[in-house]
Amino acid sequence: MPLLLPDLSERDRQPELMDDPALDEGLHRQALTGLERVNRISGVVGVLWGAVRPLCEQHRDRPPLRVLDVGSGGGDISVGLWQRAKKAGHAIQVGGCDISPKAIRMASERAERAGADARYFSVDVLNDDLPSDWDVMYCSLFLHHFDEEQGVRLLSNMGRAAREMVLVDDLVRSRLGYVLCWCGVRLLTRSPIVHVDGPLSVRAGFDPQEVLAMAEEAGLGGARISRHWPQRLLLTWSRSP
Ligand SMILES: C[S@@+](CC[C@H](N)C(=O)[O-])C[C@H]1O[C@@H](n2cnc3c(N)ncnc32)[C@H](O)[C@@H]1O
Repeated sequence: MPLLLPDLSERDRQPELMDDPALDEGLHRQALTGLERVNRISGVVGVLWGAVRPLCEQHRDRPPLRVLDVGSGGGDISVGLWQRAKKAGHAIQVGGCDISPKAIRMASERAERAGADARYFSVDVLNDDLPSDWDVMYCSLFLHHFDEEQGVRLLSNMGRAAREMVLVDDLVRSRLGYVLCWCGVRLLTRSPIVHVDGPLSVRAGFDPQEVLAMAEEAGLGGARISRHWPQRLLLTWSRSP
């Protein structure tokens, strides 16, 4: 498929191949491995760790901070966070939830290989309440999967359940983001699924103001947005600002 710049003034949300439950497990794993490389080059673990680290300091004399990845895919971000915390001298508990049993299997295997204190479980965020025993809930490359009403539902589900903080990292819908994504996924992975889903994700992405408006509607007043390489946004909301 050649690089043709689509109209990005409005969102264009099309079904992503990875969300097809019938997707072959080998292709699904290859796609999640491709996403792991995208996540690494985008510095997602470092960005999330920057937000979580101050809470770890506050939890020094309390039970370990519990950090849940919502729509956790292959588990590279949650295990990466656990490793980053360990390196900094903090014992945290991490976990993830996902609608796909294949993703949960892959994340559990990764955590076991790394010896991480982690647990992964099945959730459909649009229909199930998230559990209320996690301090921080974050999602990455996830919000853009949903329409605005579903996005608000996801954010309010996370905001109701998280004891201390909600973080949302995602692609920014922009021309530069589209070009970087189109080229980046072709350089980083041979996964045909990621080659299709990557650019589709930018077309379905939000701009920072749209995410802030959804957060407000979801009851996450006072949320802040920052941007990071390469054309990503991070929404941060704390229960006690
Ligand atoms: C693009 S992947 C992102 C995975 C991971 N967060 C990352 O950044 O690498 C989106 C993930 O969301 C999961 N997902 C899609 N719809 C979901 C839903 N309604 N509830 C829970 N997980 C869902 C998919 O199975 C997939 O693993």
